[in-house]
Amino acid sequence: MSADRVDGEFASSNEGYELLYESFDDRPGLSDSHAKWEALKLPDVSGMTALDVGCNEGYFSGHLASSGAAFVFGFDAEDEVIAVARQRFPDVQFAALDWDLPWEGVIPRLGEYDLALIVSALHYSQAPEALIAKIHAALAPGGLLVFEGGVAEGEGDRIQVVREHDVTWHFTHSGLERLFADWRIERVTPSITQATDPIPRFVYHVRR
Ligand SMILES: C[S@@+](CC[C@H](N)C(=O)[O-])C[C@H]1O[C@@H](n2cnc3c(N)ncnc32)[C@H](O)[C@@H]1O
Repeated sequence: MSADRVDGEFASSNEGYELLYESFDDRPGLSDSHAKWEALKLPDVSGMTALDVGCNEGYFSGHLASSGAAFVFGFDAEDEVIAVARQRFPDVQFAALDWDLPWEGVIPRLGEYDLALIVSALHYSQAPEALIAKIHAALAPGGLLVFEGGVAEGEGDRIQVVREHDVTWHFTHSGLERLFADWRIERVTPSITQATDPIPRFVYHVRR
């Protein structure tokens, strides 16, 4: 991995950052969740089985369900956001789960998902190759993974981004091509711009 680094005054001082990340009709958030949903350019999800990795308060899980997905499972490491997600979207299955722990016996329908989302989340992973391998195994053959997040320029695999409240690792475009070497990868569109973004966001659709 390259150790290129980006520093900056990107962060708001935001205690409770994750709790106030997504935006809903009844509450603003740091992220314009509806605009991000549109930028994902999802196919018709009617009847699909969908997995939302790092689902936060469940905005995308809830929208997948209300858009006709037959089964949606969202999970996140933070108990607090999962509690809110369950209240907001009682028809969706949610779990508080660290993606680095085993998925077998915890995440239902492994190997059957038509669609998986990893939105604004992969840069938090310390072991992205292992996480992507788990998502690959969770998808049905031909299943679609939709990635959204900040992607850097450069030849290395990832760059380090140092902010006031966290340090994250963002893939470069060439790093993503290597990460998804065994997948069919398509850069769909730039994504939205958020107030605290250190680098531009993109959406990729990748099929196993
Ligand atoms: C910036 S938020 C994005 C949430 C949502 N996907 C969206 O775009 O609105 C990143 C989420 O990843 C979750 N996350 C970070 N590390 C995780 C881990 N190890 N396992 C599961 N979720 C994790 C965080 O708790 C947070 O809710």
